[in-house]
Amino acid sequence: MENFIAHNPTKVHFGKDVVGQLGEAAAQCGKKALLVYGRGSVLRNGSYQDTKDQLDKAGIEIIEYSGIKPNPIVEDVDKAAALGMEKEVDMVIAVGGGSVIDSAKIIAVCITEQCSGWDVMKELRDPVRALPIMAVLTLAATGTEMNAVAVLQNNQTMEKFGYRHPVMFPKHSFLDPNYTRSVPANHTGYGIVDLVAHVLESYFGYGDASLSDRFAASVILEAMEYGPQLMRNPDDYLLRARIMWAATNALNGLLSYGRLNGDFTSHSLGHQLSLLYDTPHGASLSIAFPAWMKHMIPKVGHRLEKLGRDLFGDPSAGGTIKRLESFFSEVSCPVRLGDIGVGPDQKDEIVALMNRNECNGKNPDNLLNDLDREQIVDLMFEA
Ligand code: NZQ
Ligand code: ZN
Repeated sequence: MENFIAHNPTKVHFGKDVVGQLGEAAAQCGKKALLVYGRGSVLRNGSYQDTKDQLDKAGIEIIEYSGIKPNPIVEDVDKAAALGMEKEVDMVIAVGGGSVIDSAKIIAVCITEQCSGWDVMKELRDPVRALPIMAVLTLAATGTEMNAVAVLQNNQTMEKFGYRHPVMFPKHSFLDPNYTRSVPANHTGYGIVDLVAHVLESYFGYGDASLSDRFAASVILEAMEYGPQLMRNPDDYLLRARIMWAATNALNGLLSYGRLNGDFTSHSLGHQLSLLYDTPHGASLSIAFPAWMKHMIPKVGHRLEKLGRDLFGDPSAGGTIKRLESFFSEVSCPVRLGDIGVGPDQKDEIVALMNRNECNGKNPDNLLNDLDREQIVDLMFEA
């Protein structure tokens, strides 16, 4: 077991109508809020209006920045931060999915540090503080609502990666499963894969943490039991709630305590697909993770065997991968590059970008070289 600090300062408000508590929370952070959202889904599912009503009631002035795209880009962060600086806002409130919340986190740092988003991402700053961040989550997937990570994309430098800093824990996150009922089938599936992928990344991290292993199996079992049911019953509140809470717990630290870190190689490989083809995050993982696991059997076979025993009562590494891959298909996610319209003629550009960005994870035992990456991409094409 590795040494660790368990600390998570985010106050999570979970359940029906919890946004009713936002006004009071925001009033403690100041008088002017930068309200950030995406391309309009929040206007249709009620989350925007409920948030706005709360801020109005609390007498908080609202400055809006909308249009954050999925796989968010640093340009939007810089524009929103410039607006926040000009208007001297006191807090940043994100309404939306992971892309919006991640953007809000970096915006909150840029405003206090008076710097660009990419400077923050590249660790050219060591922020002392960020503006208070609040999140109204509308999509169950990333876990960003209860962690200190933000992932941004830079289409100029062709890089996408995560940045973590404790100042970026949201102060309050509001999780009303009702807002997620409007998430379309494809993004519901991507979210389920993403949460399972986070569990797997933690599971393949460096270090022996038996309790975390047990938590990992529980969260995957929850997703495997209720995910397919949710795909068939997208309007079911309880199923939405179960998946939402599973997603939060998949990446809020709980599954990593006792390990040096998660692995996150599959995330890094998947980010290159998002850079090249704007592949949604969950879809990039349902393709990358099975390929990575197959390639890594010589190194992580014993972990796959343990996982198979815990999840399926079957200690076979190959069988575990097969069952996880079938599960990804069951929640309507692609498992090969061909499923997203990427052909073998595109192999070279994928491998080149992965190698240029030196895709690797954080487990020193599982590092990849150029040949590994090429072989993993071959597995992403495999019939
Ligand atoms: O733009 P809008 O109109 O809001 O539509 C969004 C978007 O098109 C839509 N949507 C969100 N809530 C909805 C809804 N549509 C209908 N009803 C609702 N209630 O869904 C689409 C996808 O949204 P997005 O925010 O991009 O999805 P997600 O939450 O999966 O976030 C993905 C981003 O998070 C990063 C990913 O890399 C990706 O950039 N990640 C962040 C992590 C973190 N901060 O800890 C960890 C993850 O591993 C991940 O890397
Ligand atoms: Zn993820």
